[in-house]
Amino acid sequence: MIIVLIGYMGSGKSTIGKELATALEYSFLDLDDYISDKEKGSISEIFKTKGEIYFRRKETEYLNDVINSSENIVLALGGGTPCYGKNMDLIINNANVTSFYLKLSIPLLSKRLFTEREKRPLISHLNSETELLEFIGKHLFERNQYYSKSQFTLNTDHKTKQEILED
Ligand code: S3P
Repeated sequence: MIIVLIGYMGSGKSTIGKELATALEYSFLDLDDYISDKEKGSISEIFKTKGEIYFRRKETEYLNDVINSSENIVLALGGGTPCYGKNMDLIINNANVTSFYLKLSIPLLSKRLFTEREKRPLISHLNSETELLEFIGKHLFERNQYYSKSQFTLNTDHKTKQEILED
């Protein structure tokens, strides 16, 4: 069984994913880390040297690799993974996969992401929390159509890690 965690940057996919994997005795895999390992560079470096189109191509390629595994895995996707090509169909049409959307409100995402934006090439150029808030609002408007195809949606606003895990 593969448990796929979906959600915007900063929504807690990796943090929750690691704890969920430990609790279930599953392996944990972060798709961004997997891409970095395979491509031998950070996500920011890949964006800078090879460009976003190259990154998206690799993201789809590596998603295809791991989604067909027969192991028990908790898989944290990148925020954009479900929104390109047929990635979301691949996830929801696989009987071995259960998908969860970790949904966090725009103000909370913006607060969390502002201090962590350096390592995220799509938002590293934004200079204020207000700019970031506007950016996330527009971006989520486009992305919600993909995220909301997840089998389950968990509202995570003001919840502790433990509460999210229980959900
Ligand atoms: C991206 C999210 C990032 C990473 C890349 C692009 C996106 O992953 O894949 O910077 O398009 O939302 P996280 O959601 O783990 O930050």
